[in-house]
Amino acid sequence: YHTPELTPGSEVPECAIAVDVLRATTTIATALNAGAEAVQVFSDLDKLMKVSEEWQPDKRLRAGERGGSTVAGCDLGNSPLDCTPEVVKGKRLFLTTTNGTRALKRVQDASIVLAAALINRAAVVEYVLSQQPETVWIVGSGWEGSYSLEDTVCAGAIAHSLVTQLNCPLNELAGNDEVIAAIALYRQWQDNLLEMFHHASHGQRLLRLNCHEDLKYCSQTDILDVLPIQTEAGVLIKKV
Ligand code: MLT
Repeated sequence: YHTPELTPGSEVPECAIAVDVLRATTTIATALNAGAEAVQVFSDLDKLMKVSEEWQPDKRLRAGERGGSTVAGCDLGNSPLDCTPEVVKGKRLFLTTTNGTRALKRVQDASIVLAAALINRAAVVEYVLSQQPETVWIVGSGWEGSYSLEDTVCAGAIAHSLVTQLNCPLNELAGNDEVIAAIALYRQWQDNLLEMFHHASHGQRLLRLNCHEDLKYCSQTDILDVLPIQTEAGVLIKKV
């Protein structure tokens, strides 16, 4: 388990799982599940505008978030609840967010890049177990370089499920102390994930922005059977 600032630039794992449970990776999973053709992620808004300009207008949606709020000039912000089939079906979502899309860009050179949230945890775990990669990094997005409770708990949810299903001692699988701590945090909060969001600083930021329903949605575990997987740098599709 690594937060982005701990990710050494030159080192690349075989499999990188990016996590931004509030809300970017929840939004990505939801959009792909609702029939979006792909989600293309950007660290930078100007680059997003430039690349999406070359796309057919009726086949694209620009989604931008900074500080939890929608960026002016975009079609959408970063609420997963906006990603209904009516809105996203057949379209490419061009997405930039404060932290989540940046975490995905940081790990884009791994052989396997996945986007995980609580809502699609089981699908991610099932895929990792089927591929048996030698090294797996679970990369929490955090907030502007700092630690995030909700991403750590989601990383713990993934690691807990891997450890349980492999039926293997934790010390044989965990590459560092962070993953052991993440599993412990998940085990503490697993029955109260919404409450945990209410304690987290970004959860509180979203509550101030009246995103109560987003928090409820993001706190559900294993509700979508969708695996967002990178096919080319920064482009994720639903694995079929
Ligand atoms: C991010 O990338 O920092 C988040 O997804 C922020 C948000 O909740 O929109």
